[in-house]
Amino acid sequence: MAEDLHIIQGSKQEQYQTLIPQIKALVEGEPDLIANLANTVAALKEQFGWFWTGFYLVKEDELVLAPFQGPVACTRIKKGRGVCGTSWAEAKTLIVPDVEQFPGHIACSSLSKSEIVVPVIRNNSVVAVLDVDSDVYNSFDTIDQQYLEEIVGLLTFN
Ligand code: SME
Repeated sequence: MAEDLHIIQGSKQEQYQTLIPQIKALVEGEPDLIANLANTVAALKEQFGWFWTGFYLVKEDELVLAPFQGPVACTRIKKGRGVCGTSWAEAKTLIVPDVEQFPGHIACSSLSKSEIVVPVIRNNSVVAVLDVDSDVYNSFDTIDQQYLEEIVGLLTFN
């Protein structure tokens, strides 16, 4: 695959629909998890320009920071803590329109205003979460949920 990403203008759906085959091409045939997580968040960042886009990996009883794009962030999050730890504990996607209204939200940056966290589930266990933060309130909806869940489904976790 060519290294240049094809970035488009258009509706959110059109942006995801153009991006997803490109992410698929980037990760297929590459067995290294970190390389694939890194290219996935880079592709999302290039297309959408979100404030922070990254993965946390489940390691024993914590989430540990993994490839991301954006400002430096909290390195470890306990199960049930913050949006990420709650998504892990509940094994479901969480859409947070205003982070200040989410009890226990972990503010890695005061510039983050809204957030979506998608758990990556393999063999009935959460193995990672994809966290996306926006500096604008109310940035994420069920369209993001649908496509981001599809994107994490492209990744092989071993
Ligand atoms: N806000 C997240 C923490 C991770 S940072 O946003 C990158 C949370 O509440 O879990």
